[in-house]
Amino acid sequence: MVNPSPRTAAKADPAVPFLDLVSQHRALEEELVVAFRGAVRSARFVGGPEVAAFEREFASVVGTAEAVGLASGTDALRFAYLAMGVGPGDELITVPNTFIATSETITQAGGTIRFVDIDEATMTLDPAALAAAITPRTVGIVPVHLYGQPADMDPILAVAARHGLWVVEDAAQAHGATYKGRPAGSLGALAAFSFYPGKNLGACGEAGATVGNDRARLDVVRQLREHGQAKKYYHDSEGYNGRLDAIQAAFLRIKLRHLPAWTDGRRRAATWYREALADVAEVHLPTEARYARHSYHLFVIRAERRDALQAHLTQEQIGTGLHYPLPLHLQNAYRGMGLRKGAFPITERTAATCLSLPMFPEVTESQVARVADAVRRFFRG
Ligand SMILES: Cc1ncc(COP(=O)(O)O)c(C=O)c1O
Repeated sequence: MVNPSPRTAAKADPAVPFLDLVSQHRALEEELVVAFRGAVRSARFVGGPEVAAFEREFASVVGTAEAVGLASGTDALRFAYLAMGVGPGDELITVPNTFIATSETITQAGGTIRFVDIDEATMTLDPAALAAAITPRTVGIVPVHLYGQPADMDPILAVAARHGLWVVEDAAQAHGATYKGRPAGSLGALAAFSFYPGKNLGACGEAGATVGNDRARLDVVRQLREHGQAKKYYHDSEGYNGRLDAIQAAFLRIKLRHLPAWTDGRRRAATWYREALADVAEVHLPTEARYARHSYHLFVIRAERRDALQAHLTQEQIGTGLHYPLPLHLQNAYRGMGLRKGAFPITERTAATCLSLPMFPEVTESQVARVADAVRRFFRG
């Protein structure tokens, strides 16, 4: 086959990745390398001043008294539930449209999962469904600030107060988001953050944190991350190895300084999408709740013929994702709960129609325009 000459070849549109961590790290490379060198030279790899400094700085950004650096967001949830005292028979209410880390850690902490459906506009825990689901065994509520949109915390906290329940926020996707001006993660008894690389604030590996104002419970989290020890080799309980690496803490300190600008970048991209897709009636755009400053961890549209639309975008070299394709109550892992299709209609409908478009702070207006054009062409031909 004869290759077409460069002059006659059609100019291919460049691909638009779903997430571009390479650009972000290229801009930070020198600083990250210096931090890495510092860790190697000091040989402080676990705990130490970098972890303590990151904990202070992150707590100050979230507006809580303390943050406890951990090995993952999953540990942050599990340890938060354990610190709240979850025991056998205790029910925790959460949503079925989340990543399984929210719920598997309930079981791992010894509790029982109780799912309730979401509010269609915000995609987060429906306060009315919550109130109806409380039983005498309910002890806690776990709203998930999904995609960077905070759950409607005031009515949730009011229901909690009325029934004597605690609230732990799953803020894994909500760094930089606010609820009525207050940071997501500062509203419940405790909150869990993930610093998985693709998150709005991501490490260069696995990391997480539990944050809050309750120093006694955060002391429990601190013990749990270190095999239940109060001081070296003296164990008040069994625990876990859930510590944050010093190298990751050093990387996170560098990246934390960029979080406000990155959140602005995501919000700018969301505005471009809204403008570019405003005339495509087949596409249901995500809402930003009146109470919220959405941090757009993900930009999730909903549309009929979602699978065909996704295939079309893949063919156009546009990266997409599904968050999430199968609700938790219909997963094999939860077959034992006996929940069937139809149990949570809004979550199920969302799972069938959701599509996450490319979203990252560095995405350009022309990349967004290219995605929007491809979406428009799919519906309009
Ligand atoms: C909503 C939610 N909760 C919890 C987690 C768990 O965080 P990690 O992957 O850091 O364990 C994640 C991230 O994957 C998440 O998206």
